[in-house]
Amino acid sequence: MKIVLLGAPGAGKGTHAVRLSDDYGIPHISTGDIFRANLKNGTELGKKAKSYMDQGLLVPDELTVDLVLDRLKQDDCKNGWILDGFPRNLFQAEALTKALADEGGLDYAIHLTIEDEQIVKRMAGRRVCSVCGASYNTNGLMPRVDGVCDRCGGPVVQRADDAPETVLKRLAVYHEQTEPIVEYYREIGKETPVDGSLPMDETYALLVALLGEKDGCHDQD
Ligand code: AP5
Ligand code: MG
Repeated sequence: MKIVLLGAPGAGKGTHAVRLSDDYGIPHISTGDIFRANLKNGTELGKKAKSYMDQGLLVPDELTVDLVLDRLKQDDCKNGWILDGFPRNLFQAEALTKALADEGGLDYAIHLTIEDEQIVKRMAGRRVCSVCGASYNTNGLMPRVDGVCDRCGGPVVQRADDAPETVLKRLAVYHEQTEPIVEYYREIGKETPVDGSLPMDETYALLVALLGEKDGCHDQD
């Protein structure tokens, strides 16, 4: 199953992708997580990406597209994948469509819908695992042990680009550059809207209803 998760910053792409990846046994590929891991490891890519991420801007396509298309060729992607945060503009969407042309294209471009006001509230409370990318929130969705990820035991921290003014910039960039690809996927018959504004388990249930139950699906505890 080849899935693109679309949606504004804070729509819940990372939250649901982590769970879908566990339940459906396909890798979760997040460009934001890849850039943050590179930053943490002090790589050249990480240093270059940081200046854009800190300002809430998109990292240039020449640093992003080949990175993702190469990742999709790795062995663990044979049975599918969940892309989170890619594509993020029309150039990236078209590059992905072209790369998948010989293998039947995407199965779903799922658009997690949510209003901006709700996003700003969510982002203020967001905390993330700096190892596996799992998302938490001070609004009642914190890990069982303070500061320690339930899923992998990694440290749970606040993201540098969740400062309120950077969130507003990221939202503006989303509306200007990323939202047009929702229309792009609609035109090629792949866009499927799913309400991302509901409580987490309700949105997740809609995703499972869309994708079909998979053996081994489990409730988040
Ligand atoms: P990236 O890491 O992709 O960030 P983003 O798209 O801005 O999205 P977020 O990760 O902020 O939100 P999310 O939808 O994953 O929400 P989450 O699940 O955490 O990108 C960061 C930067 O990297 C970009 O700004 C750019 O610079 C660069 N970049 C990345 N990809 C790029 C690309 N392809 N091209 C160019 N540049 C690129 O949820 C948010 C919060 O809400 C959490 O606290 C969560 O617990 C909570 N929550 C989620 N769902 C619910 C719910 N249903 N109810 C209550 N709370 C909920
Ligand atoms: Mg995310």
